[in-house]
Amino acid sequence: MAIRDIVKDGDPLLRKHSRDVDKFDGKLHALLNDMLQTMRIADGVGIAAPQVGILRKAVICELEVEGSEEGEILEMINPVITAKSGEQVGMEGCLSVPGKHCEVLRPEKVSVEFQDRFGAKHSRTFVGFNAVVASHEIDHLSGILFYDKEVKEGK
Ligand code: CO
Repeated sequence: MAIRDIVKDGDPLLRKHSRDVDKFDGKLHALLNDMLQTMRIADGVGIAAPQVGILRKAVICELEVEGSEEGEILEMINPVITAKSGEQVGMEGCLSVPGKHCEVLRPEKVSVEFQDRFGAKHSRTFVGFNAVVASHEIDHLSGILFYDKEVKEGK
């Protein structure tokens, strides 16, 4: 495993659309392993492949698990949001946008279809904090950064 450089805001790469992953091979697994290590070192709770310079649809989320101190690491390849409902506003930041935090509007609940690192299909529904992390990371695959969805006070 290796720590990769995190692409920072201002780099046009972060604004590009990522392409589908079509090979679930060792190269993908190495990318995911590196993304996890990079996320951990940077103390984040999510990371998307474009943040390490790879324009492919792959994200990692560290999800909260009820009743557990330990989070769940979830890799999602080619994720697609199939349903969303409700609204929540919370403070967000991003490993690619150091020093900036702001309030962001997100759905309270999102359902996602995705593949795992071996290509098997899954679907999951996330609520609360986990819905925030999942939608933040999936946004990266469309070149969207959290502050694009900032909720300004008084509005
Ligand atoms: Co981010």
